[in-house]
Amino acid sequence: MFIKDLVIDYGAAPVVDKVNIVVNPGELIAILGANGAGKSSILQCLAGLHRASGGSILLDNENIEHADASTIATQGLALVPEGRQVFAQLSVRDNLLLGGYSRKEAFDAEAEIDSILRRFPRLRDRIDSAAGLLSGGEQQMVAIGRGLMAKPKILLLDEPSLGLSPAMIGELYDALAALRDEGVTLLLVDQMANLALQVADRAYVLETGRIVKSGSAEALRGDPELEAAYLGGAAA
Ligand SMILES: Nc1ncnc2c1ncn2[C@@H]1O[C@H](COP(=O)(O)OP(=O)(O)OP(=O)(O)O)[C@@H](O)[C@H]1O
Ligand SMILES: [Mg+2]
Repeated sequence: MFIKDLVIDYGAAPVVDKVNIVVNPGELIAILGANGAGKSSILQCLAGLHRASGGSILLDNENIEHADASTIATQGLALVPEGRQVFAQLSVRDNLLLGGYSRKEAFDAEAEIDSILRRFPRLRDRIDSAAGLLSGGEQQMVAIGRGLMAKPKILLLDEPSLGLSPAMIGELYDALAALRDEGVTLLLVDQMANLALQVADRAYVLETGRIVKSGSAEALRGDPELEAAYLGGAAA
């Protein structure tokens, strides 16, 4: 996916200003940045929830910057939103099944649910529970599972660690690393820069709507400027 000169505004000054991001197949890319930097705006725009006011988004050689959310889902981007947003009244199983809605081709839903339960074994006992009764970490697993059910070309993750215990965050990030190792392409936003840089291949640093730095996660891990700005306080 090629994001070129992306501009996003909410009717006033741009909150994302000429951002360029490349996500190659099989990569885990992180977008880092403080509160209000524009991270969620980018992911929501990619998912078609908010229209870009400038620039282009190329997914598999097709421009999707003017496509609506359901078209984009069919074309292969799935968003795991900030705050998880599971359907609280629906069972875990039904939440997962909803994730498969956008798929064009027939698939074995039970087999895919089973593969998600192998990935997140804690969900197995809770499969028929209302998702709203689960812990925050378990709900995050449901939200990721729902995204995976769409078999997306790129899974977009917005702050998966938000509000979770360190143990749960560790478990989730192990799952993200495993997904990457299996060849799933991921675009991850997290304020916990240290954590994101541990699993990412490359990262982009966003500051008030602009990319101020980018490079391999390895290089950014040792970057003194970044350390001062993000890696101290936000460390996992
Ligand atoms: N629906 C909206 N209407 C108006 N302004 C918005 C809207 N959503 C976000 N903004 C503004 O856009 C800017 C970027 O917000 P965004 O949520 O993308 O940042 P973020 O990097 O995800 O922050 P956080 O780390 O707090 O989640 C902020 O100044 C925010 O106030
Ligand atoms: Mg956000």
